[in-house]
Amino acid sequence: MKMLENRNALVTGASRGIGKEIAKAFANQGASVVVNYHTREESADDVATEIEKIGMRTWIFPTDTSNLQEVKKMKGAIEKNFGKIDVLVNNAGINVDKTFAKMTEEDWNKVISVDLTGVFNCTHVFLDHVTESKYGRIINITSIVGQMGNIGQVNYAAAKSGIIGLTKALAREMARKNVTVNAIAPGFIETDMVRNMPDKIKEKVLPTIPMGRFGKPEEVAHACVFLASDMAAYITGQVINVNGGMYM
Ligand SMILES: NC(=O)c1ccc[n+]([C@@H]2O[C@H](COP(=O)([O-])OP(=O)(O)OC[C@H]3O[C@@H](n4cnc5c(N)ncnc54)[C@H](OP(=O)(O)O)[C@@H]3O)[C@@H](O)[C@H]2O)c1
Repeated sequence: MKMLENRNALVTGASRGIGKEIAKAFANQGASVVVNYHTREESADDVATEIEKIGMRTWIFPTDTSNLQEVKKMKGAIEKNFGKIDVLVNNAGINVDKTFAKMTEEDWNKVISVDLTGVFNCTHVFLDHVTESKYGRIINITSIVGQMGNIGQVNYAAAKSGIIGLTKALAREMARKNVTVNAIAPGFIETDMVRNMPDKIKEKVLPTIPMGRFGKPEEVAHACVFLASDMAAYITGQVINVNGGMYM
């Protein structure tokens, strides 16, 4: 018996990186998966092809999750073509890094609108689906940076800390409805987001990770599968750290 049989999942930002691995891991455990993406249709198509090879139903849909109207449109299209969502993974995220003195209002608004308001938008729009589900799960991808801060990431840290507060408050609201709401806080994971960081920053970060290496996106996906499964039915309002021991 697979861990996620009979579930429909929506993973935002699933064309690459962590979201892609979550989508594939869910399919490997028997879930049907909507692959949301923003700009990279070809990459989203490749993820869908991989999911079809696993033998699971999938569908790709482009949305800017920071735009509430677009998210509502995605919901309508998913209801028509796919069904209702049991497991929502709010993974889509961006960073625009610079020291606070140089950070503009635009840099601030951009990151807050995708990384925090995007989570509000998707959660608000799909709340009725997960509430009606027998397997209702909301999983928010926050970051170690929301827990310990980081130079050059005031906007990102604020958004990711906001996700942690949102997760805990909503977990309390949804507990009696049998919907769990949890967050995963990855450390530094080998995706485009970290690959694009300047080498001198990566060289400084590496010795601060007790396990001595960056994480793999699959390692975040494994935690996500667990939280989505029946095995995590009594876990809510938690932040699961997947960070090689970098923050305890
Ligand atoms: N990598 C890390 O070390 C790390 C650590 C902690 C937390 N995280 C968090 O984990 C999540 C995934 O990160 P990642 O490293 O996998 O990032 P990534 O490789 O840069 O991929 C980002 C994904 O988000 C999508 N996206 C960006 N803006 C979007 C928008 N407005 N609407 C919908 N989708 C959007 C992208 O879609 P397109 O490709 O189609 O544009 C892409 O699929 C993010 O929330 C990030 O903050 C990452």
